[in-house]
Amino acid sequence: MAAYSFVDHTYDVLVIGAGGAGLRATLGMGAAGFKTACVTKVFPTRSHTVAAQGGISASLGNMSEDDWRWHMYDTVKGSDWLGDQDAIEYMCREAVPAVYELEHFGVPFSRTDDGRIYQRPFGGHMRNFGEAPVQRACAAADRTGHAILHTLYQQCLKHDAEFFVEYFAIDLIMDPDGACRGAVAINLDDGSLHRFRAHLTVLATGGYGRAYFSATSAHTCTGDGHGLVTRAGLPLQDMEFVQFHPTGIYGSGCLITEGARGEGGYLTNSTGERFMERYAPTAKDLASRDVVSRAMTVEIREGRGVGKDKDYIHLHLEHLGAETLELRLPGITETARIFAGVDVTREPIPVLPTVHYNMGGVPTNIHTEVLRPTESDPDAVCPGLMAIGEVACVSVHGANRLGTNSLLDLVVFGRAAGLRAAATLKPATAHRPLPKDAGDLATSRLDRVRNANGGHRTAQIRLALQRAMQNDAAVFRTAATLREGCRKIDEAYDSFADLRIDDRSLIWNSDLIEALELANLLDCAKTTIYSAEARSESRGAHAREDFPTRDDVGWMKHTLAWVDAKGKVALGYRPVHAYTLTKDVEYIKPKARVY
Ligand code: FUM
Repeated sequence: MAAYSFVDHTYDVLVIGAGGAGLRATLGMGAAGFKTACVTKVFPTRSHTVAAQGGISASLGNMSEDDWRWHMYDTVKGSDWLGDQDAIEYMCREAVPAVYELEHFGVPFSRTDDGRIYQRPFGGHMRNFGEAPVQRACAAADRTGHAILHTLYQQCLKHDAEFFVEYFAIDLIMDPDGACRGAVAINLDDGSLHRFRAHLTVLATGGYGRAYFSATSAHTCTGDGHGLVTRAGLPLQDMEFVQFHPTGIYGSGCLITEGARGEGGYLTNSTGERFMERYAPTAKDLASRDVVSRAMTVEIREGRGVGKDKDYIHLHLEHLGAETLELRLPGITETARIFAGVDVTREPIPVLPTVHYNMGGVPTNIHTEVLRPTESDPDAVCPGLMAIGEVACVSVHGANRLGTNSLLDLVVFGRAAGLRAAATLKPATAHRPLPKDAGDLATSRLDRVRNANGGHRTAQIRLALQRAMQNDAAVFRTAATLREGCRKIDEAYDSFADLRIDDRSLIWNSDLIEALELANLLDCAKTTIYSAEARSESRGAHAREDFPTRDDVGWMKHTLAWVDAKGKVALGYRPVHAYTLTKDVEYIKPKARVY
């Protein structure tokens, strides 16, 4: 093995990732007086939150009456009753102060004529417990994530958080007693290795959309935090629930915000029919995403797709007029022109359901502490480790997330991490020495991958993985597709043992760094496909054609999935929380989910 030396750092708190969740946590930690490091693979304002378009949900009631209880009801219903209602209550209540806090931080929200935050309708957000769509998405035109990310970064700079930009975390440092003590990261600029010691490590690394061939996610969304956790022997939760956004641009997969339908856009099939009226008579084009994506897929399958190959759907915005498009949807007007060659003032956009979000992830409690569930204590925590944002599964989204609840999740739970740290840790608490072998597992793995001299290239394995996920863990699934998916993902996983690395440098875009990202994607794909194969029901985004109904008796439970060093997946389950956080609201009992 090559000799590796570490540059050592000591902090109270280490945050890994600088998207909306990571930055909100970093600023909260700094404000609470903690010496905080934020390690990030890309420059903070290039994190994937920058691509969030349509809005952040909060029942401000600026456009018409609204209530956080209605928001909670919609979120529980959207989750198809897999969400934990204590966490959902916390998020929906905190939404209103969270958005006002963002406003005071300086987020340039769009405004109503009387100067209040502009809110638009979004899928699945309804008034009065499901009656009709409500305007709840607080928007900065169609660049809400961009506005929030830049504002949070500026706020972080006010506190003394230290950023380690273009550093890639490759492994957690775990104590023999199972506590997390920090992480090892590569400086992608010069290839040096860094060992970060911290009382608390907060994972905020985002999702793993790039396990699929076509995704709205950035190429950096490679499930890095998921990989850190599986390699530390901890489970992932509810990985079978992968969200397809109804309106990715046909071909490129670029996101066209649901806010486009919120502003009055609608979908048609090849006969020009507004088919969503048949599938969701009340909410129509603003039904929740799983419902709309399934409806589009059925239309295409039954021969009513648009185009030469009848394989896409039309999204119409022409009737909104150039002025509204310029004011409310300038970003997607430009995206449609560049990526679909479409002038949205005159013609519809060709769209297709596209992978967008991972409901599953690292299980946590509402304080953002990572769980290490046991038979006797399904809510036991792993000391020293927190997770927030898309990498986490708290679980507020359950089996299907409502649009705009993800920006909300980022800021509410990013803030919660700081609050929990302040309640449990004193700034400048002395550190125990790290175990003597701290970082050795990371360097021996790094060395193995770096010197791989087999017959499979990174890009080849990644393509096989992405194709298998796209075909076999799709909008609709069956035992046959899922078993085939398990076989293909196993094959891709095993071929990683026969990897060939040509460019062995520890810097950006090298073959080696992409291979380390691929290792993370492989763990994500394994846990997704095996969890999906096992769940013999349909719930939210997990639509089994061979088990078309929801089974609350057998399956109202969270899936846990561990991956061992040989890639073998072990599954377990933990109960869904059938209780709320306070007595202010009652547990919402499961019922049929119609829109
Ligand atoms: O459609 C969108 O603007 C996406 C929002 C979200 O995923 O929350």
